[in-house]
Amino acid sequence: MEKNFKRTTVTSALPYANGPVHIGHLAGVYVPADIYVRYLRLKGRDVLFIGGSDEHGVPVTIRARKEGITVQQVVDRYHSLIKDSFERFGISFDVYSRTTSDTHHQLASDFFKKLYDEGKLVEQVSEQFYDEQTGHFLTDRNIRGECPRCHAPEAYGDQCEACGATLSPEELINPYNAETGNPLVLKETKHWYLPLDKDQEWLEKWILEEHKEWRPNVYGQCKSWLDGGLRPRAVTRDLDWGIPVPVEGAEGKVLYVWFDAPIGYISNTKELCDARPELGTWETWWKDEETRLVHFIGKDNIVFHCIVFPAMLKAHGEYILPDNVPSNEFLNLEGNKISTSKNYAVWLNEYLDELPGRQDELRYVLTANAPETKDNDFMWADFQARCNNELVAVYGNFVNRALQLTQKYYDGVVPACGELTDYDRETLAEFDGVKERLEQLLENFKFREAQKEAMNLARIGNKYIADCEPWKVIKTDPERVKTVIYISLQLTANLAIAFEPFLPFSSQRLREMICMEDFSWENLGSTELLPTGKQLAKPSLLFSKIEDDVIQAQTEKLAATVKANEEAAYRANPIKENVAFEDFQKLDIRVGTVLECERVPKMKKLLKFKIDDGLECRTIVSGISQWYEPEALVGKQVLFIANLAPRAFKNGLVSEGMILSAENFDGSISVTTVEHPVKPGSQVC
Ligand code: 2FM
Ligand code: ZN
Repeated sequence: MEKNFKRTTVTSALPYANGPVHIGHLAGVYVPADIYVRYLRLKGRDVLFIGGSDEHGVPVTIRARKEGITVQQVVDRYHSLIKDSFERFGISFDVYSRTTSDTHHQLASDFFKKLYDEGKLVEQVSEQFYDEQTGHFLTDRNIRGECPRCHAPEAYGDQCEACGATLSPEELINPYNAETGNPLVLKETKHWYLPLDKDQEWLEKWILEEHKEWRPNVYGQCKSWLDGGLRPRAVTRDLDWGIPVPVEGAEGKVLYVWFDAPIGYISNTKELCDARPELGTWETWWKDEETRLVHFIGKDNIVFHCIVFPAMLKAHGEYILPDNVPSNEFLNLEGNKISTSKNYAVWLNEYLDELPGRQDELRYVLTANAPETKDNDFMWADFQARCNNELVAVYGNFVNRALQLTQKYYDGVVPACGELTDYDRETLAEFDGVKERLEQLLENFKFREAQKEAMNLARIGNKYIADCEPWKVIKTDPERVKTVIYISLQLTANLAIAFEPFLPFSSQRLREMICMEDFSWENLGSTELLPTGKQLAKPSLLFSKIEDDVIQAQTEKLAATVKANEEAAYRANPIKENVAFEDFQKLDIRVGTVLECERVPKMKKLLKFKIDDGLECRTIVSGISQWYEPEALVGKQVLFIANLAPRAFKNGLVSEGMILSAENFDGSISVTTVEHPVKPGSQVC
């Protein structure tokens, strides 16, 4: 049953302060959250929009070591950079604080202590990997070693990228520290766990039965976690950066970043409400049943916000649970994954510097192309086309015509509306239902369609004024022109309201041009927003074209990054030491014809080949499924090492050799083949 909420607390994922924010973050989290909040405010609802930087965890410590500065310096630098660029971009947080604040340390520490004191956490000693040379325990992602399944040499502690197996670090053969290369030993350490297994039942009921309305991607991911059975999760770590575990005997241990970060939403609300008592107490926004809690996040954060954080809140006992967790999929850039570590992104701070005054253009394109249901691509050419063909040619053009004609014919004063024609009535009818349609979409987090609906209003206006041709009719029927301009101006005023949540900068400029001091969502759809006789200000262009050289500069910049990454990859992987010819001769490389090729169940990176090697049919397994459809390889002649000792996989599969492939600098794989067909079994020499 729909609940009647009195107020809404909207949170958006706290970005790690280990780098600037990029368009992937914006499209996934901050633009949709900002649209939603601006809409609620415009409707006059009570809402708080909570943001902040996530300054703990391993990523910031890695960045500090890389740059040779302290962790505090890293988080100070990126916190200010991120905060400033959000502000310039018009993300309208009510508060943007940080998890290194005193308020947060206190609140997160108290939260943990309460769970600990009430026996809601489980203490457990386990063996974890330890680097004796640096004196550090390692997180799963920082441990590498040989994969026990496919024997790839550089599997991660939690996953092998070659065969796709999910691993735990103890399974790795010869584990080492990914950063230092030092070998690792197992050492006992004590940690505190949130016993999620005990939450299984209520979480299943709460999510799977009571929140069927959550987006399919969110619901689906939760279901798969729940179907797999929840296990206890450690909420502390052996690290020297973070919030100290407030328990005796826990020296050198801190709260796990995913324990403290979501509590940051609460701490930041507290900071805001303490500073502005008129907003009410922070508890009202987090503990009152009449408050609706909504988390905007990216898809990699789903489990933490839908399962772990709710379990923490429930264990604490005083908090409300999220009512919805709208999560987007990922945004790619020109066909490639956005990557902070590879510097492959459009960084918000750079965009703001390089395309000044064009916040709404980016907001428009990111929403028009939002990855709401599937991963999407940001292409600079598409950015240019949407700006020029939609913002400039439709919305901007319509508004400009309406305002310029008002200046020209009526000195900027709204004319009187005469008798309506059928066409006028049809036009007015078209934007009759726009308010309800927009509300329906926005309340259901369908921002992409909602923006389309607003743009449709502009299209109606553009067509109306083009069809009515007031610049011609003025010579024959000046009275008729008054009506056309009157209707066009009412449409213009409606656009200023409808676009406010999406394009706040241009909406404000437009409101200034039409001297619209008061505006509210409730007036949307009205045909009497600008009364006859009202004096309007001098108009200027709402949007201007994006020229080719701007786009070219951006695509060249990305190409330069790709090139630099390729060169770095080459330098990191230089030609190996010379080997004696006799050693080379020990390798028996041959040509084989692929007879069959198929995927391997449960090992998603692997392809299983049957190869005609000239004498018989042999099985070879190769971790290249990401790059090939198996059928496409059947009939191809490939090079393989024929005398490599057979290697067995956990599921009993044995690989009798290795297919040779070239790994491109971007990590993509291309199998080697021969230029002319040869007999299977031919030697490569
Ligand atoms: O994935 C991330 O970037 C995390 N820093 C998000 C944290 S969200 C919340 F829990 F604070
Ligand atoms: Zn593997």
